[in-house]
Amino acid sequence: MNFKEQIDTKRLPQHIAIIMDGNGRWAKERGRLRVFGHENGVAAVRNTAEAAAEIGVKYITLYAFSTENWNRPKKEVDALMSLLVKTINKETETLNKNKIRLQAIGDLKSLKPDTYNELLKAIENTKSNDRMTLVLALSYSSRGEMVNAVKQIAEKAKKGDLDAEDINCDLINQHLNTHFMPDPELLIRTSGEQRISNFMLWQIAYTELYFCPKYWPDFGKEDFYKAIVDYQSRERRFGKTSEQITK
Ligand code: FPP
Repeated sequence: MNFKEQIDTKRLPQHIAIIMDGNGRWAKERGRLRVFGHENGVAAVRNTAEAAAEIGVKYITLYAFSTENWNRPKKEVDALMSLLVKTINKETETLNKNKIRLQAIGDLKSLKPDTYNELLKAIENTKSNDRMTLVLALSYSSRGEMVNAVKQIAEKAKKGDLDAEDINCDLINQHLNTHFMPDPELLIRTSGEQRISNFMLWQIAYTELYFCPKYWPDFGKEDFYKAIVDYQSRERRFGKTSEQITK
């Protein structure tokens, strides 16, 4: 039985976050430039989005570009940005055909104007799709997101619009980029690295972590389904005891 058939669709994670890692090493192993790895990563993005929509996952968040990635060589950053524009442009029709809404989180204003405009256009063109939401984390850093949330809350307190006693988890959630979706139940990272790299630190408090040894360009639908099967085999206790969960 393949992994897809082993999934219990009644217990699906609603939101799966993915750290797409290993494009550079994938290219290097083939004696090619890092950009070649990113180009080949686009097919894995398409396969993953399709795989998620096929079984009924509601939100997929892909860590496509971190704030720290701006420090990569200019040539690689430029190539990644133009790949993003090209891909978003090319895939909008497929997103609409599959009723997938595009969204983005991160410091979007720091993107190059053509990337930013293309992104906003695709978000607008897909906004009424309701089968699944595909979220791109672009120029995203979790600490940056939290600093912004604290600034907004402090401004409101200064104006007298809220008191310190009003600050709770819900209020903080409302001021994060991710306010429109539930926290991910599952986080997948490819390439064998086992770290979080400044990705959704607040939101993954109770997320199940899954590390896949394959490089991102080799990550296929069955790898995605395998991660979900693994997730479904775990007992999520949220700080309670096993007996409290199962009774
Ligand atoms: C990590 O591999 C990957 C990235 C920083 C970029 C991911 C981008 C894509 C897959 C391109 C298209 C994306 C979309 C959403 C259209 P790495 O470069 O860190 O690899 P390494 O760890 O082996 O060096």
